[in-house]
Amino acid sequence: MAKTPKILILNGPNLNTLGTRQPEVYGHTTLTEIEAMCQARALERGLAANCRQSNSEGEMVTWIQGARGTCAGILINPGAYSHTSVAILDALLTVELPVVEVHLSNIHQRETFRRHSYVSSAAQGVICGFGATGYLMAIDGLADLIGNAKGSGKKA
Ligand code: DQA
Repeated sequence: MAKTPKILILNGPNLNTLGTRQPEVYGHTTLTEIEAMCQARALERGLAANCRQSNSEGEMVTWIQGARGTCAGILINPGAYSHTSVAILDALLTVELPVVEVHLSNIHQRETFRRHSYVSSAAQGVICGFGATGYLMAIDGLADLIGNAKGSGKKA
């Protein structure tokens, strides 16, 4: 039987405090709950989710590099690094995997500095403003991208 493809679900700085962090912006769902939802949806879509969170840009870069050859795709909420990190962008451009970027809040409705994400130019799709549900939408999108890649003969 073929091995279940893995996806890396990567959450950036301060997302470990979800549930108590500005719930009026980010909702009441904790990261542990989001990760459990993601594990379940990934399984439904024939994928295995490897969920990680870091407050450190370098650690995120290292994990993205490690996904090359071991994972079939990446779901990333880079948190504030979305708006600052060329290093995370470069890592995602190098990894040659489908990438979906997620934000709980609608970053286009907030402060001007949040409206630009470096990461978006390495992402096939971006989902924002749907809270925790956005992660499930992103897994569905990623599963389709991985399926499409297989269907077209490209390496997923
Ligand atoms: C966020 C949006 C970012 O601007 C912010 O710095 C975060 C969370 C979101 O999920 O809405 O940490 O990525």
